[in-house]
Amino acid sequence: MKKFFINTYGCQMNVHESEKLAGILHQRGYVQANSNEDADVILLNTCCIRETAETRVLGNLGIIKKIKEKRPEVIVGICGCMPQKPGSAQMLRKRCPFINIIFGTHNMYRLGEYLDRVERGEKVLEIWDSEGKIETSPILREQGAHAWVNIMYGCDNFCSYCIVPYVRGRERSRDFNEIVTEVRALVESGYKEITLLGQNVNSYGGGSPQFGKLLRALTAFDGEYRIKFMTSHPKDFTEDVAEAMASSEKIANYVHLPVQAGSDRILKLMNRKYTSAEYLEKIKIIRSFIPDVGISSDIMIGFPTETEEDYLCSEELVKEVKYNNLFTFIYSRRSGTVADKMDGQVDIATKTDRIERLIKLQFEIGNELAKSYVGNKYRVLCGDVVDGVGYGKSSCDKSISFAADESKKGKFIDVKIIQAKNNKLIGEIC
Ligand code: SAH
Ligand code: SF4
Ligand code: F3S
Repeated sequence: MKKFFINTYGCQMNVHESEKLAGILHQRGYVQANSNEDADVILLNTCCIRETAETRVLGNLGIIKKIKEKRPEVIVGICGCMPQKPGSAQMLRKRCPFINIIFGTHNMYRLGEYLDRVERGEKVLEIWDSEGKIETSPILREQGAHAWVNIMYGCDNFCSYCIVPYVRGRERSRDFNEIVTEVRALVESGYKEITLLGQNVNSYGGGSPQFGKLLRALTAFDGEYRIKFMTSHPKDFTEDVAEAMASSEKIANYVHLPVQAGSDRILKLMNRKYTSAEYLEKIKIIRSFIPDVGISSDIMIGFPTETEEDYLCSEELVKEVKYNNLFTFIYSRRSGTVADKMDGQVDIATKTDRIERLIKLQFEIGNELAKSYVGNKYRVLCGDVVDGVGYGKSSCDKSISFAADESKKGKFIDVKIIQAKNNKLIGEIC
């Protein structure tokens, strides 16, 4: 039996798209290999959000080249955001002539046809520069109790640093009823946690109140399950969504609300369309509806012209919000974006110093928060169980470990926090 292996880079959107690529391969009779080494088809589903993401892909292509030298009959394909970047596909063709198929984000569902063409002796390089209509693919979901569901594709926001609108195209929302049908089927087949995906879920269907309506519609099914969603753009997050979240236990008490920076001057240059005060107001509204909500964020360090004073505004904001989780990134120049042409690029030593300070600050805040949770009880969805330890997440996205046997895997369990070890929460089943 022929085998495939997919190397996935980047965000949840890509993780889910790899499940769709796997679905196409599965339909053609392929089964999943354990590694690149024993696969007949190797795919790289790539990301180009930062330079480091691209470097990782190029490094892995070096390893795959060696596999191809030993077994020339292996089919190698590269797809996703990296080849979709203007000029990138041609660069890949030149630099890595051993790649059989190069395709982008808008034509991923055509993989089957590209495999046929390779089998006929062709080399495929096909990048579509416009989106076309939303196509459905078979999906081979990762095993477990969690599933991803796309509710929209693309992004219209053009944050000045970001490559996503260029490689993912304009915003398109999926049909409301189609989403409801997919989620219902997932719940009925036993999935316990479903994450709705979009670059800006709050502008689903053209904006408020559509997303709130969708959330409410997804709480109508029988049984215990949780709906999560990401990512929320602060400018589009509206009160009706907080209200919908508070209205049902079936919607997780968790919001990923990336702020990017605390300085209003930098936020304006980033084209984020909110001030730090407006952002804090949204946090206040969310917490007024859902007091125990978990909030996480992304912050970028070293955007062009960022001064020490600007950086300290990000620190102040982090101290004020007290995030449950913070993802920090060093600004990376992306050609074709507005910020790439800005004067005042910040040197790497300054960026590194600032990100280290921010990580340390968040670590201390995380520690304090973790201690304050000791004694609390949470309903946790148990994911993996390894060597008698279960790992699960609460509705408010707290990661908790606890003694458990295999039977708890994929089940909702009540856990009491007995200890906080740095940022880690340890609990016991109660
Ligand atoms: N659509 C989401 C996130 C998309 S990318 C949103 O609007 O928040 C995920 C994160 O990568 C972003 O939140 C941002 O913090 C980071 N990012 C995007 N472009 C970047 C760049 N050029 N350099 C460094 N980090 C970047
Ligand atoms: Fe990028 Fe901004 Fe769109 Fe997010 S909202 S994907 S950061 S352009
Ligand atoms: Fe990367 Fe594309 Fe996602 S650039 S972050 S994989 S949308």
